[in-house]
Amino acid sequence: MTNAPLHSAPTDADVNAMARDQRPALPDGITLRSLQGAELEQYLDAVAALRIAVFRDWPYLYDGTLAFERDYLQSYLDNKDAVLVAAFDGDRLIGASTSTPMEVHAEAFAAPFATLDLPLTRILYGVESVLLHAYRGLGLGHRFFDLREIHARSLGRSHIAFCAICRPDNHPACPHDYRGPDAFWRKRGYAPVPGAVATFAWRDVGDVAESEKPLELWLRAL
Ligand SMILES: CC(C)(COP(=O)(O)OP(=O)(O)OC[C@H]1O[C@@H](n2cnc3c(N)ncnc32)[C@H](O)[C@@H]1OP(=O)(O)O)[C@@H](O)C(=O)NCCC(=O)NCCS
Repeated sequence: MTNAPLHSAPTDADVNAMARDQRPALPDGITLRSLQGAELEQYLDAVAALRIAVFRDWPYLYDGTLAFERDYLQSYLDNKDAVLVAAFDGDRLIGASTSTPMEVHAEAFAAPFATLDLPLTRILYGVESVLLHAYRGLGLGHRFFDLREIHARSLGRSHIAFCAICRPDNHPACPHDYRGPDAFWRKRGYAPVPGAVATFAWRDVGDVAESEKPLELWLRAL
């Protein structure tokens, strides 16, 4: 498979330089590829399956369906500036980190962004980072962010945003030893935007109907 970028996504050179210079080596067989457009298409079902598996856990509790996921992920194919950073163990997709121009998600974020004096066209939106449990703690999460930040800069974007679900700490489904990614995000320079909260609806595992969830917006100036 070739990894030649269609536009300005991190190149193989970026991926390899990062692996060599900035991060401890990954275990044998684990590789990262940056995919766009038609190259990305062949992995959409695998990304959908990853999202369903990983977001089923706390704090998302997302009871996802392949049909919805396929439709949702289609927007990555249709946008020339969207990128999938895919992590593989051999040929198997084991992690994914996606980013798209913020204006693509403008509808859900119209209200939160009204409080900011920042045009959406200056922001790259990190849609998700998902990694199977067995591969966590190897530095792939950092590499996902490294490559997202390279992509944002190459598009001339000045900020990166993403959103994180807010659930009460005393929620019955919260594992007693849960350690969230907030400290990781803050260490990388991201912080919640005060008062900027979007709302998304999905069906929680075990529920019969969808319910709305608040998601706080996190932002970093590059
Ligand atoms: C977020 C996620 C992609 C991070 O992947 P990862 O490869 O484990 O991350 P890394 O190994 O690069 O570690 C990143 C930081 O998290 C810390 N960390 C490692 N394991 C952790 C754990 N179980 N819980 C919380 N933080 C952890 C690491 O110590 C590291 O911090 P450091 O730089 O201070 O040492 C992965 O945990 C995941 O898929 N989580 C579930 C989905 C999710 O919440 N995604 C984010 C919102 S879309």
